[in-house]
This record gives sequence, C-alpha cells and structure tokens, in this order.
Amino acid sequence: MSERFAAEVGGTRLVLLRGDITTQDVDAIVNAANPELTPGGGVSGAIHRAGGPALTRAAAQIRRERGPLPTGEAVITPSGKLRARWVIHTVGPVWRGGRHREADLLARAYRSSLALAVAHLLRSIAFPSISTGVYGYPVEEAAPVALRAVRGFLRAHPQALDEVRFVLFSAGDLAAYRQAWEGLPAEAPDP
Ligand code: APR
Repeated sequence: MSERFAAEVGGTRLVLLRGDITTQDVDAIVNAANPELTPGGGVSGAIHRAGGPALTRAAAQIRRERGPLPTGEAVITPSGKLRARWVIHTVGPVWRGGRHREADLLARAYRSSLALAVAHLLRSIAFPSISTGVYGYPVEEAAPVALRAVRGFLRAHPQALDEVRFVLFSAGDLAAYRQAWEGLPAEAPDP
C-alpha cells in the first residue's frame, strides 16, 4: 500500500501519510497530551524533545494558569525549535471498553484542535493518531471516528484550511486510516 494518500473535503486537502510528526512542515502539529501538559512518553515525549525547553515551559505555564486540560479540549503554544511554529495540545480519551463516551470525546479532541487552528488563522495542521498508543484506543475503532470528525469540520468550514494531515507512525496505522477513509459512508451526517 502507498505511503501517502490524499483526498479533498470542502476545499481542504486531507492527507494520510506514514511519518514522524515532529518534522512536518505545517503551521501547527497536534500533540496527544496528558491533562498536566507534561512531556510524558509516546508522541508527546517526542514533540517535547524536538521542541526543547521553550515548548515544555510554555505548556507548563498554560497548566499553571488554567489547571489540568479536560479531555476533548485543546490549547495552543509556540513550538520552540520545531519546524511547525505552533503546537496544539489536546487530550484524547483513555479507552475503557468503548461505552464511556470515548468516541464522542475523541471526536471533540479533533474538532477542538481544528477550531483553535482556524481561530489563529493557521492554514495547515498535522495530527497524530490521538489516544491509540498509551491510552489504548484500538486504532481500527479510532480511525473512523477521527476521520469523520475531521471531515465534518471541513465540510462545515469550507476553505478554512489548506491542508489537514494525519501523520501515522506505522504502516499498520496508515493502513487502518486508509481503510477507514474508504469505508466512511459518503453522505452520513458527521458528528
Ligand atoms: N510521530 C507520529 N506519531 C507518533 C510519534 C511520532 N514521532 N511517536 C509516537 N507516535 C504515535 C504512536 O505510535 C501512537 O500511534 O502516536 C500515537 C499516539 O500514541 P501516544 O503518544 O501514546 O498517545 P495517546 O495514546 O493519546 O496517549 C497519551 O501518552 O505520552 C503520554 O503524556 C501522554 O499520558 C499521555 C498519553
């Protein structure tokens, strides 16, 4: 299967690719953060390492000012040393079997991040696969939720962004997102 796939939604390019989110040339990358906005492991640890102390300090300051970030919400900080200028930190749900509003909360995390990007007049944004690592959300379940949430936002905000990119870390994750995209019902109302 190809390492890159592109579609178009409401005048925005939607790209699925395999790669490392820390090196993406977009206006903002999204961090799968914890509510304390500390570096942690996984993609968050990688983003904080690449951004350096300025990023970690900016996140800590927001935590001090606002308290823990609720699941599904998002905040924005400068990126420190990253190629992308901004980091949008959002907290996805911890998987608890699927009957604890996980899908709703995951969709919210994507929508909050996109809304923040648009509010800051950013034109391009890259997402990792939120919640499917340490937080245990099965990627086959998360991918259609993520893609429907993004598609719904882009349909509701035509041309608000030039590009939304999903940067998947493994071939298996890319395949899951690609398959989920192909399987989304064309006209189903998006959440
Ligand atoms: N680029 C893109 N994706 C990455 C990268 C990277 N450099 N590094 C890891 N990933 C992928 C993982 O393979 C996984 O598919 O990001 C996805 C999300 O995994 P996690 O980082 O574990 O995020 P999440 O499941 O949302 O858990 C959040 O993890 O790091 C802690 O502090 C964080 O407590 C929070 C929790």
